[in-house]
Amino acid sequence: MDALVTGTGFVGANVAAKFIDEGKSVIALDQNPVKPDFLQRDDAKLSMVKGNVSELGSLEEIVKKERPKILVHTATYINPREVYNVFEVNVRGTSNALEIARKHDLRLVYLSSGAIYGQMEGNRDIEEDESFGPLYPPREHDNTSGVGYAMSKRLGEQWVGMYRDLYGLEVTALRLAWVYGRGIADYRLNSGVSLFLRKAIVGESMHLPYGGDTFCDFVHVFDVADAVFNAATRPIPKNLAFNITYEKGYLMKEVASSVKSLIPTADIELGPGMWPSKGVPIPRGGISFPSARHTSIARAKRELGYAPSYDLVKGMNEYLTWMKKNWDLCSPQAYPFPA
Ligand SMILES: NC(=O)c1ccc[n+]([C@@H]2O[C@H](COP(=O)([O-])OP(=O)(O)OC[C@H]3O[C@@H](n4cnc5c(N)ncnc54)[C@H](O)[C@@H]3O)[C@@H](O)[C@H]2O)c1
Repeated sequence: MDALVTGTGFVGANVAAKFIDEGKSVIALDQNPVKPDFLQRDDAKLSMVKGNVSELGSLEEIVKKERPKILVHTATYINPREVYNVFEVNVRGTSNALEIARKHDLRLVYLSSGAIYGQMEGNRDIEEDESFGPLYPPREHDNTSGVGYAMSKRLGEQWVGMYRDLYGLEVTALRLAWVYGRGIADYRLNSGVSLFLRKAIVGESMHLPYGGDTFCDFVHVFDVADAVFNAATRPIPKNLAFNITYEKGYLMKEVASSVKSLIPTADIELGPGMWPSKGVPIPRGGISFPSARHTSIARAKRELGYAPSYDLVKGMNEYLTWMKKNWDLCSPQAYPFPA
C-alpha cells in the first residue's frame, strides 16, 4: 500500500478518496471503520482496518504488514467532556504515529488545527510564525468546550516539530480552519454551514437576534484533501506548519445569504454582533475562539502549491448535493435540530 491514513472520519475519508483518485493505494485505519458512500467502490486500492492509534503495537503491526511509504495522521478525539480520551488519542496517538514514522521511514502528514492559535486579537490574516495566544483560562466570550482539544493539538504539533528536529523526520503539519463538505454525519450537523443548509432544506425558519457579524474561517474538504496530497507527495517543504483555509473568511450573515442563493426559499435572518458563547440555542461547533480572524495561506501557496478553489457558494453547492443524496444520515430524524 502507498499510504496509511489513520482516522476515516470526515477528513480522513475524503483524504483516502483523493489518494485513490490520484492512483495511490490506501490502507485506512479507524477504531470504528465506516465507509461513506464515496468510498463504497469496488477498488483494490482501498482496504479498511480496525485499529487504535493509542496503541503503538496496533499501528506497527499494520505498517509491518502493508509497508506504506506515507502516513497521514487524521485520527482525533474531540469530546470536550472526555479530556482523558482527548489526551490519549490526540497526544499519545500522535506520539505513536511519529514513532512509527521514524522507525519505518515514513513521510508523515499531521492534521493540526487553527485552534492552536488560541486567543489572538485583531481582524487580520494570521501568519504561521506568530506567537500563539493563551489557551487557558478562557476569556469571557470564549467557548470553553474547545480548550482541551486545542491544547492537545498544540502539543501534538510541537511534538511533531521536535521529531523533525531530533530525527530529521520528513513531516508536514497542516493547520486546518473550519472544514465543511461531504461526509459530515455527526454532531457537527448542528453547527455552521451544516445547520443552515439543513434548516433550509426542510423549510424551517431560523431567526436569531445576534450572530451575523461573527467571522469564520471556512475551508471546503476537497481543498483540504488537495493540500494533504500535495504535502505527502511533493518535495519536502522548508517549513513545518501551514495554514489551510480559503482565500478569505466569511461573516455568518454572508453564510446565510449564500444559502439563500442556493435555496431561494431559505428563511434565515441573523441580527448584528457576535455569536455569544453562553446560553445560546445553537452550538457553535468549531468556533472555539471566534475572534475576527482569518489565517494566511501565503506560505501554503508558495511551498505546497496549495490553490483552494472552493469559495463558499461552490463549496456549499457540493455539500448540499451530497447531503440530499445522504438524507438518511443528515435529516432532522437522524440528528434533531437543537432546541
Ligand atoms: N473537521 C474540522 O473542521 C477540523 C478543523 C481543524 C482540524 N481538524 C483536524 O483534522 C483531523 C480530522 O478531523 P475530522 O473532522 O475528520 O474528525 P472526525 O471526528 O470526523 O474523525 C476522526 C476519526 O478518528 C477516529 N478515531 C478516534 N480515536 C481513534 C483511535 N484511538 N484510533 C483510531 N481511530 C480513532 C474516529 O473514529 C473518527 O473516525 C483531526 O486531526 C482534526 O484535529 C479538523
